[in-house]
Amino acid sequence: MSVDPHVYGAGGLGQGKRPHGCVLTIFGASGDLTRRKLIPALYNLALERRLPERFAVIGYARSEMTHEVFRSKMREAVSQFSRTGLKDESVWNDFAANLYFIPGSYDESNGYRQLQDFVGGFDRGSRVPPIRVFYLALPPDLYAPVIEQLAAIGLAAKENARDGRTRVVIEKPFGTDLETARELNRRVHEVLDENQVYRIDHYLGKETVQNIMVFRFANAVFEPIWNRRYVDHVQITAAESVGVENRGGYYEDAGVVRDMFQNHLLQLFCLTAMEPPVAFSADAVRDEKGKLLRSVRPIFVDDVARIAVRGQYGPGKFAGNEVKGYRQEPGVANGSNTETYAAIKLFIDNWRWEGVPFYLRSGKRMAKRVSEIAIQFKRPPLLLFRSCAVDDVNPNVLVVRIQPDEGISLTFEVKPPGPDICVSPLSLDFNYEEGFGSAPPEAYETLLEDCIEGDSTLFTRHDWVESAWSLMDPIIQAWRRTAPKDFPNYEAGSWGPKEADEFMQRDGRRWRRP
Ligand code: BG6
Repeated sequence: MSVDPHVYGAGGLGQGKRPHGCVLTIFGASGDLTRRKLIPALYNLALERRLPERFAVIGYARSEMTHEVFRSKMREAVSQFSRTGLKDESVWNDFAANLYFIPGSYDESNGYRQLQDFVGGFDRGSRVPPIRVFYLALPPDLYAPVIEQLAAIGLAAKENARDGRTRVVIEKPFGTDLETARELNRRVHEVLDENQVYRIDHYLGKETVQNIMVFRFANAVFEPIWNRRYVDHVQITAAESVGVENRGGYYEDAGVVRDMFQNHLLQLFCLTAMEPPVAFSADAVRDEKGKLLRSVRPIFVDDVARIAVRGQYGPGKFAGNEVKGYRQEPGVANGSNTETYAAIKLFIDNWRWEGVPFYLRSGKRMAKRVSEIAIQFKRPPLLLFRSCAVDDVNPNVLVVRIQPDEGISLTFEVKPPGPDICVSPLSLDFNYEEGFGSAPPEAYETLLEDCIEGDSTLFTRHDWVESAWSLMDPIIQAWRRTAPKDFPNYEAGSWGPKEADEFMQRDGRRWRRP
C-alpha cells in the first residue's frame, strides 16, 4: 500500500507557524543528548529546509571550547547519529556557520552576559524580533536555577500572548515525585507563563504515537467499538533490550516507574483512552489527557501488591552473548533493590472504560526491543465453532506498533482452505516504511520544529505532570517501604519475572509476546 507523501513529514500536528528567525540556546551542550539527538535532529531539519530563514544555535556548557572545536565535535556527532548521516556537506557548512559555543556556569551569572550579548546582537540583525528558544539538556537540579538566571539577566520574562517569543524546553524527569514537581512548576511559573514552557516527552514526538490520534479520530469504523462493550483489555508495552548502560548512577534513584511510566507509558495510555478533543489544538488535546488521568481509579499504597509487579534483571544472554545483571552494572550498588521492570494494571472510572483493565509494562534487558499498544477485543460467541478448541478462536487484536517496524495491524479469524469449517488468524497490516517509502523522522526533529513554531500540543502541561506523579507516587512509595525478596527475579534477555505472568493468569489473560 502506498500513501500520498504530501501529507506526511511535516512536524507535529502542524498547528504552528514557522518564524522568520530563531536563536536556539542549548544548555548542556557538551552532553550526550546534544550530541546524539539535538544537533542531528537540527541538521536533518536544515536538510529538509524546515528551519527558519535566520537560524543560529548556541551551545552553552561549563567546559571551555572554541566555536571551531564545538563545530567539529558536532560534525562528528551528525555523521555518527543522524538518521541520514552527514548527507549533504553544503547543508552542513551553512548550518555549522551558525553554530556557536559559549562557556559558562549554570547557576552563576558569568557566561549569561556573553549569551545576552549574542542574543541581543542576533535580534539587531533581524527584520522581525526572532524567537528565542532555551533548551535545558541538563540534570534536573539545574532547571530552576538556569531559568532564574535567564530571568535575572533579562532573557526570560512572562509573555502572556500566545505568540510570545521566548520559549524554554525542559527535559525529563520533571521532578521526582508530586511534591518536587509542584515545587519546580512553582519556580518555573514565577518566571514564565505556562504557554512558554515546553516540557518534553520524546515519545510524543514519535510519528507512530502522533498517529494514534489521527487513527482514532479520522476513521469512523473504530470509534464505535473503542469502549467497554467491545474491548476486553489493553496492553501497553515498552520493552527495551538494552540494560542501564552507563546511566547506573541516575537509574539507581529513578527506577523504571520514574524513568518510563510517569511519562512515556502514561502518555501512550492517555492517547489510547482519552475522549476526542474538541479541536486539534494544544489546550484541547491536553485538556482531554488531563481529564483521563483524573478518571483513573486512584492507587493506594496498600493496593500496590495487587495491581503491580516489580522486577530486576539478573545476568543472562542476549543475542547469544552473556550479559551482566543489573547489580553488576557500573554505578549500581551490589545489593540494589531498584526495579528495572514493572507491570501495572490501571482502571478508568468513566463511561467508556468502566471495567476494562489497561496493563502497562516496561523493562530493561528484555527479550526484544518493542513498544506497542494492543487493543484486545472480546471473543465472539463460540456456538458456531464447537469443533474448534476454545483457544483456537482468537479474539481480534488491533496493534499499534510504536517501534521498531512502525505500523498498525488488525488480526482477525478466517477459514483456512479445506473441507472442515475451522478458524485461523490472519492480519491486515500497515507498515510505515512500505506505506510512505521512508522511515519516520526522529522524534526530536518533530518536537524541535514544533517548539520553534510555537505549537505545544506534543508537550506536557503542568497539570498533567502533577497528575501523573500523583498516580505513580503510591507505587514508588510502596516499593520503597518493603524490600523485594527475590531480586534479581528475571534473566536478562527474557520477558520479565514469572510473577508478571502469574499476575496476568490470575485475570485469565496472558501477555503478548510481540
Ligand atoms: C528515556 C529513558 O526517557 O527513554 C531511557 O530515560 C529509555 O531509560 C528511553 O531507554 C527509551 O526511549 P526509546 O525512544 O529508545 O524507546
